[in-house]
Order: sequence, then structure tokens, then C-alpha cells
Amino acid sequence: MEAAQVRTKKRVSDHGEVLTGQREVSAMLDLVKQETERIDSRFLEPACGDGNFLSVILERKLVVVERRYGKSQLDFERYAVLAVSSIYGIDILSDNVRDCRRRLFEVFEANYARLFKAAGKNDCREAVRFILERNIVWGDALTLRTVGEKPSYIVFSEWSPVNGSMLKRRDFTFHGLLAHERMKELPLFSDLGENVFIPTPEREYPPVHFMEIARVGH
Ligand SMILES: C[S@@+](CC[C@H](N)C(=O)[O-])C[C@H]1O[C@@H](n2cnc3c(N)ncnc32)[C@H](O)[C@@H]1O
Repeated sequence: MEAAQVRTKKRVSDHGEVLTGQREVSAMLDLVKQETERIDSRFLEPACGDGNFLSVILERKLVVVERRYGKSQLDFERYAVLAVSSIYGIDILSDNVRDCRRRLFEVFEANYARLFKAAGKNDCREAVRFILERNIVWGDALTLRTVGEKPSYIVFSEWSPVNGSMLKRRDFTFHGLLAHERMKELPLFSDLGENVFIPTPEREYPPVHFMEIARVGH
């Protein structure tokens, strides 16, 4: 085990915090390689730590975004934002949540700055920051509630592209989404006309240009 995998004994005994080494992260993600390379495949890690898995997932997705769209700045921005928006995490420790968001932003920024240098747009960076703020949640994955002053049910935003550059946000409670797990008899998809489980959003927002989601302040 690498030294960096354990920060303090107290964190291990209080929160089971033993971080995963790079080699294991890679090997485990290789088990779902196709999904890690699908730009919009959704990942949720309910005990994400400072993002050892999520940062590699984003790196892998961005390799694909660059290969397909690296020649067009707008296309790269649109698909890189989509890649970020499909990555979700929860951690009970606030410093892990902060570090995870920062790390994911840095993965995006390293690629963005390398490809587009001074042409990089702050609106795009703000969009990425805003989505990470929402998607990486300071919460307890067992109680399904946020941690902090006013604990409430964890809410995840679904971000769906509409007409190219627009992004539609729908908010769902985590416990509402998991209700499907408790009602296993209802499939999520059916070609046979059976009842399916369709989660109800807590809130829906009108589509906005992806560069403006932070400014519109959803
Ligand atoms: C074994 S570590 C794994 C971290 C990261 N997934 C990795 O592999 O590097 C477990 C993580 O779960 C977090 N954790 C412990 N209890 C939790 C809970 N009830 N809800 C959310 N996160 C929790 C800890 O803070 C720690 O970051």
C-alpha cells in the first residue's frame, strides 16, 4: 500500500478512508472500459474520496472528446462539459469533496488550456465549476442526506443536451432514484408495454446555453 493511501489513522477508523492506488484504479476501470470511454455515460461514486476514480474517468472521456472534437473549440467545449456533467460523487468529508471538485476541474483545465490556450473561455470554465459544485455532493451515502448545517435529501441534477448547445437540467432526489432498487419488479425500460419505473423530477429548468448555466444561476 502507498503511504498516500492513508492520511491519518483517525480518518481510517472514523470513515474507512483508505484511498485506492493508481494501478488498482486503472485495472478496475478497465473492467468497464467501454463505459469509461463513452462521453455521456453516467458514473456515480457514493464514497468518492478526493476523486481517484472519478478523475481517471474524466481523463478517459476527455481523450475521446479530444480525438473526436479537438479541432473545433465549440464542439470540444460542448462535449467536455457533457463529459463532466455525467460524473457524480458523494463523500462525507468536506475536504474530500472540495479536493475532488478541484481535481476534476484541473483535469478539464489541463486539456482545455493545452488545446486552446488563450482562446479558452471563462464562461466555459465557470460552467464546469458550476456543474462540479452540484454533482460532487457533501453527503452521507447511507442516510442519503447532505451533511452540514441544514441536512436535506441529496439532490442530483440530470444534465441533458438539447438542440446542440443547450443543456436541460432536471433535479431528482437520490432516495427517489433508489426507490427503483426497492421495487425491483418494475423495469426501467420495456419493449413489451409493461409498466416501467419513471422517476419524477423534483424540479425542471428550461434549457439554457451550456456556457450560461453558471451565469443564469440555475
Ligand atoms: C475507502 S475510501 C475510498 C475513497 C475513494 N473511493 C478511493 O477509492 O480512493 C472511503 C471513502 O468513503 C467516505 N465515506 C465514509 N462513509 C461515508 C458515507 N456514509 N457516505 C459517503 N462517504 C463516506 C470516506 O470519507 C472516504 O473518502
